[in-house]
Amino acid sequence: MKKIVVLLFVAAIVQAQKFEKLALTPPMGWNSWNKFGCNINEEIIKKMADAMVESGMKDVGYKYIIIDDCWQGKRDSLGFIQPDPERFPSGIKALADYIHSKGLKFGIYSCAGWKTCGGRPGSRGYEFQDAMKFAEWGVDYLKYDWCYTEGLCAEDAYLTMRNALYQTGRPIVFSICEWGNNKPWLWGKNIGHLWRTTGDITNCFDCVIDHGTWKSWGVMQILDMQEGLRSYAGPDHWNDPDMLEVGNGMSVNEDRAHFSMWCMLSAPLIAGNDLSRMSQETKEILTNKEVIEVNQDSLGIQGFKYFEKDGLEIWFKPLINDNWAVCFLNRSTKPIEVNFNWNNCVVVDSVFNKEANFKTRIYQIRDLWLKKDIGTTEKIFYAVIPSHDVIMLRLKPKKK
Ligand code: GLA
Repeated sequence: MKKIVVLLFVAAIVQAQKFEKLALTPPMGWNSWNKFGCNINEEIIKKMADAMVESGMKDVGYKYIIIDDCWQGKRDSLGFIQPDPERFPSGIKALADYIHSKGLKFGIYSCAGWKTCGGRPGSRGYEFQDAMKFAEWGVDYLKYDWCYTEGLCAEDAYLTMRNALYQTGRPIVFSICEWGNNKPWLWGKNIGHLWRTTGDITNCFDCVIDHGTWKSWGVMQILDMQEGLRSYAGPDHWNDPDMLEVGNGMSVNEDRAHFSMWCMLSAPLIAGNDLSRMSQETKEILTNKEVIEVNQDSLGIQGFKYFEKDGLEIWFKPLINDNWAVCFLNRSTKPIEVNFNWNNCVVVDSVFNKEANFKTRIYQIRDLWLKKDIGTTEKIFYAVIPSHDVIMLRLKPKKK
């Protein structure tokens, strides 16, 4: 009998895996960090859940409300983690219930190290206990950070938490957040559903902020760091270039460019602004259905840079039914005139074996920000792109 029990136990451990098919398209939601940092409490989180529904974001696909760092209080005498009693007096379960009652899903944050980046208790040594609590509370998504992890092997640390989550029996999306330090794209596919590829984003289009021991990065800097990673991403295992800064202080053009490029990259769309006080422009960017469709396309192929010169970049992304998304990005500080002759080009995606041959096939063009059909690829495409802005198109093969 004893032998059987031991065998069963071993079998259970061996069989631990990642919960599959939880993120067949890039996860969409909201996270507290970019706007609120450590200044969070249950009222703010509830307000964001309300706003996600009222703003129409839920209707276009956003579903996770994720509390980032600083929700934690102390561990109890048995080692179970408790929420900060002042900020979350009703407890996490009640908050999760509230979020679920709105038809949304609930996400939480922890860290593989002794402490979180904000200095709260981390999960190191408590992985199985923490996973149990998360499941008991009704957590649907865990972001797992990488501070205070000196001497740890990243792959093993994330594997341990993956197994702990799996043992709870509750399907929980697992978001690996070790900033790309240990090349998670090489080992993350069977461990998590998404992995950060870079350090933290900041609300700036083109800059680097040096904090001494670490740096935070502008949108263009993060975009450049995605080079070479697209072959690793796909349904249920995404590159994560960090959360959105839309509505957090950049210009409308910059926010539009940022959002468009994250859609071209098949990036998780995790808003990071105050959803209860959005300008009309911010709301229109975050809820543009046709742009979101590019991100949520079922092929799950990350886009690629086809051309770059003098601040202009042209990106392509293969979509279902031989459609393509095309994004003209103006990184420069001046407007750029574009005269793009489709007939001169054959766009080849050799990684995913896709081709758009404009010499032999005509496509209809839809401008996704103007929400207008604008002709076909038979004619030269002419446009002026304002500084730090984009033109984003969807091409559809024309029926003969
Ligand atoms: C790290 C992560 C951020 C955020 C903070 C919280 O810097 O990369 O996204 O979670 O920790 O302290």
